[in-house]
Amino acid sequence: MQDFILLQAARGLTTSRPPVWIMRQAGRILPEYRAVRAKFNGFKEFVKNPEACCEVTLQPINILGVDAAIIFSDILVVAEAMGLDYEMIESKGPLFYKTIQNTNDLDTIKIVDANSLHYVIEAIKLTKVKLLNTAPLIGFAGAPFTLFAYMTEGSSSKTFSKAKNLMFTRPDVAHELLYRITATTINYLEAQILAGVDMIQLFDSWAGILSPGNYQEFGLGYCAKIITTLKQKFPHIPITLFAKGANHSITDIAFTGCDVIGLDWTISIPYARLHSAGKALQGNLDPCILYGNKAFIQKNTIQLIEAMKGHPFIANLGHGVYPDTHVDHIKYFIECIMKNV
Ligand code: CP3
Repeated sequence: MQDFILLQAARGLTTSRPPVWIMRQAGRILPEYRAVRAKFNGFKEFVKNPEACCEVTLQPINILGVDAAIIFSDILVVAEAMGLDYEMIESKGPLFYKTIQNTNDLDTIKIVDANSLHYVIEAIKLTKVKLLNTAPLIGFAGAPFTLFAYMTEGSSSKTFSKAKNLMFTRPDVAHELLYRITATTINYLEAQILAGVDMIQLFDSWAGILSPGNYQEFGLGYCAKIITTLKQKFPHIPITLFAKGANHSITDIAFTGCDVIGLDWTISIPYARLHSAGKALQGNLDPCILYGNKAFIQKNTIQLIEAMKGHPFIANLGHGVYPDTHVDHIKYFIECIMKNV
């Protein structure tokens, strides 16, 4: 079997050049994505259509030439499958009709198997066929704490004070919800692997709102449970944990058993290399660097590659690409990596 450069780096090998892909490469930036999206009534209708999801998953491979595809879906589909419906409001983001505030609210929240997310599994199978083994396919899920944050808060938030209110006043309810999310996520990711994904990423986008101690208690333990369970069954599938804003916990992240640590741009590379217990690193260009001109992008990309020399490394941004980024600038970033300038 062909071993893709992405998987080599994820397994801890240093590669002739870093593999590169872009978080949120499938939505947000490409006009070709928006053309497909426009055919649907809303995001939820779109995300449940395996053919459309497959089509937009492949776009970055063909248009940007990245080293990996990431299946087009969203982290919130898991919350919906568990019993919490949401609406995706145009240019605002997700809104849940009901949130979890107490024990009674947990009554409707179920641990589910991947049958309730069959449309993602179908999209993965279809994409694997269409990829013809030209690039690896990344599967993903939201990490339990990030899903918990949406399910308790109901939307994105500056403070996530409702989420923290529940954690600090009813830790028993918080842990029960986190447990159910974890069990569902394990079922879901196992099904993704059986459907053919080559690698997994857990997105803990809201890790950074917690203190190190609280992240340990409400976040990392659940990530470790998912990772160790998957690793026992599928030791060959690399797993990335991207815990945005949790640089204080980098060594604890390494000890969850993940293969790759996703970094945002607020960590210094020498510090990350020193404290990552030898794990591969992924990231970490500030997405706003791509607003700059080509010379600026090149300078920052070279700095990143140089700083990572000799360490297993996957080039990426430090968070999802922003919607107002010029496609040319994204292409130039990728070109700089490919040429290993
Ligand atoms: O590369 C990709 O774009 C693949 C698909 C993908 C989406 N969401 C599609 C999407 C992935 C990997 C995600 C992950 C995701 N979703 C995260 C973790 C990564 C991160 O950015 O921190 C989070 C926190 C979400 C939750 C979410 N979904 C929000 C806050 C929003 C609204 C704002 C936004 O990001 O666009 C969404 C909607 C969403 N998810 C869209 C897309 C393409 C836009 C909806 C639309 O097209 O109408």
